[in-house]
Amino acid sequence: MIQKIKIIKTLIIIFSFTLSFSANAQTVEEIIKGRKAMFSENYQNAKKISILLKSKRIEEAKPLMKKISDNYIKLLDYFPENTKEGFKTGALPSIWENKDEFNTLMKKASDDMIKLAKAIETAEDLRAAQKELMWSNCSACHSKFRAPH
Ligand code: HEC
Repeated sequence: MIQKIKIIKTLIIIFSFTLSFSANAQTVEEIIKGRKAMFSENYQNAKKISILLKSKRIEEAKPLMKKISDNYIKLLDYFPENTKEGFKTGALPSIWENKDEFNTLMKKASDDMIKLAKAIETAEDLRAAQKELMWSNCSACHSKFRAPH
């Protein structure tokens, strides 16, 4: 009897492990397409921010900055070793050769969006603040880690 219970318990553990594993495992295609979608979303939101700030709609711009910041943090998990090629990725091999530098830039870009949300409350020149805390991070990273397009 005890033996039987043990076997059933083991089976349940194996079964639930298999289930959770297959639910979490993303394919290479999903990861590459997923990161491209997040960068595109960030770009759309960055353009919206520029438009909103031209007419000083500061409060409306803030949630978009938070969204970009959160996406950058999620993106840290979207560059595993097995996603260097395929699915029209524009990611350069330099990412995996300099992973710490890449991740540091990603985190800085995220932090800067939170700083920007604060800075626009008092900044005299909203365009300069966006350049310094938003757009400059795109080019800093792309120049080294994204293929020319
Ligand atoms: C820390 C690095 C980093 C930062 C910061 C960064 N990017 Fe990128 N970006 C990349 C990489 C790497 C790719 C290539 C991803 C791929 O194709 O797999 C990319 C791709 C893109 C793409 C193409 C997405 C697609 O559909 O192929 C756009 C658009 C983009 N970035 C816009 C931006 C904008 C706008 C900013 C700043 C607001 C920004 N990125 C900040 C690294 C970065």
